[in-house]
Amino acid sequence: MNPVVTAFFDEATNTISYVVRDPSGSACAVIDSVLDFDYSSGRTDTKSADAIVDYVRAENLDVQWLLESHVHADHLSAAPYIQERVGGKIGIGDNIRIVQDTFGKVFNEGTEFQRDGSQFDQLFVEGDSFHIGQLRGDVLHTPGHTPACLTYVIGDAAFVGDTLFMPDFGTARCDFPGGSSETLFASIQKILALPDETRIFVGHDYKAPGRDEYAWETTVGEQKARNIHVGAGKDQNAFVKMRDARDATLAMPKLIIPSLQVNMRAGQMPPADEKGDVFLKVPINKL
Ligand SMILES: [Fe+2]
Repeated sequence: MNPVVTAFFDEATNTISYVVRDPSGSACAVIDSVLDFDYSSGRTDTKSADAIVDYVRAENLDVQWLLESHVHADHLSAAPYIQERVGGKIGIGDNIRIVQDTFGKVFNEGTEFQRDGSQFDQLFVEGDSFHIGQLRGDVLHTPGHTPACLTYVIGDAAFVGDTLFMPDFGTARCDFPGGSSETLFASIQKILALPDETRIFVGHDYKAPGRDEYAWETTVGEQKARNIHVGAGKDQNAFVKMRDARDATLAMPKLIIPSLQVNMRAGQMPPADEKGDVFLKVPINKL
């Protein structure tokens, strides 16, 4: 059985969130939701998340999962906001513990910040499976962009997060702490080993030179044939050289500092102070 997939594009962060439905009933999962955040004012907004909540309510859907492909560095997750309104269990890769350890240190979090993934409802490892109503989901561990990256294969659809982007854009960067271009190349081979007709839904789109429209859906066959970084038989050495050289030129994502602090807590803000106010930190010369 194959899912019905509805995409929600957030132009501010170039993120695509997905609602993945069981065609035989009302069960669904939400993948990679976005909490809007204006860094200059420190204000959150729920416009993007409300679009998903409204859709779920209008279609009478039963949200079973709120899945994260990884700890995003470019947007804040709205998983807890959506969970509070329409339910669902928040899931991420088991290697979140590595990410929490790394960034727990960067942000000098105290011992009250647990680094065991316990902020999430479910930690997945390679080979795990789960259900969305009658639909079956399988978990591929696809690290390289970050250590905790997962690909969720649900029926004939693979939600690849930040591994592969559209064929004309290529692949995700590998220069965040714990990232590795060698590892990403190996992970991508796992995705490309899925049947050619597998639909691939990417986590971001930035258009590509010569393309006027945003796009997020492609197939394994198209990626193998035409992905500019890994398609048409490009080998690991060439990929690693290209990826590392390109990553050295990239600036940090605008929202990396707030995103990491929130997303490593499963989308929760840090604890409020004694007056009930919430603050994020800016580590100087650490990233
Ligand atoms: Fe990412």
